[in-house]
Amino acid sequence: MTEIHLLFVCLGNICRSPAAEAVMKVKLEKKGFGNLIHCDSAGIIGFHAGEPADARMRRHALRRGYQVTSLSRQVKRDHDFDHFDMIIGMDDQNITDLNTVARSAADRKKIFRMTDFCEKFNYDTVPDPYYGGDAGFELVLDLLEDACEGLIEHLRRGSDLERV
Ligand code: 4NP
Repeated sequence: MTEIHLLFVCLGNICRSPAAEAVMKVKLEKKGFGNLIHCDSAGIIGFHAGEPADARMRRHALRRGYQVTSLSRQVKRDHDFDHFDMIIGMDDQNITDLNTVARSAADRKKIFRMTDFCEKFNYDTVPDPYYGGDAGFELVLDLLEDACEGLIEHLRRGSDLERV
C-alpha cells in the first residue's frame, strides 16, 4: 500500500493549516489510517517560522480534542512539491501563491482547495481568523472538521484504503 503525504498550507502557518494538520491527524488515527496517510503544514510566508501556532487557535482546537503542536515553517518549493502528493490551500490567495511557486503542470496538479472537500458547509474559503474573534476560530474548526472527513472519503475512493 502506497503511503500518502498531505501538506496543508495557509498564509502564516500559525492558525488554519496547523489546525488542519492536527484535525486530520486525529481523524486518521481514529479511522486506523495514521500509518498510511501523513500530514504536515506550511505557510506561504516565513514571518512566523519556528513559532508555535497562535495561542487562540491552540485553545479553541484543544476544546475539541485537537492538540496543535507543530511549529511554523515556510513552504519549501522543491522539497514540498517533490515530497507531497496533495498540497491543500485554505483560500484563493493561497491557491494563487502555490500556483505561482509551482514548477510545472505536474506540480500544479497537486494543488487543492480545502473547502472543495467540505460535505456539509458551503464555503469556498477557510477564512483567515487572525484579526478576528472567537467565532472566526470556531468557524475554522467547523470547516476543517467537515473538509477532513470529505478528504478522507476522497482518498478512500481513490485508493486501496477500504481494503486495509
Ligand atoms: P494563518 O493566519 O494564515 O491561518 O496562519 C495568519 C497568521 C498570521 C498572519 C496572517 C494570517 N500575519 O499576517 O502575520
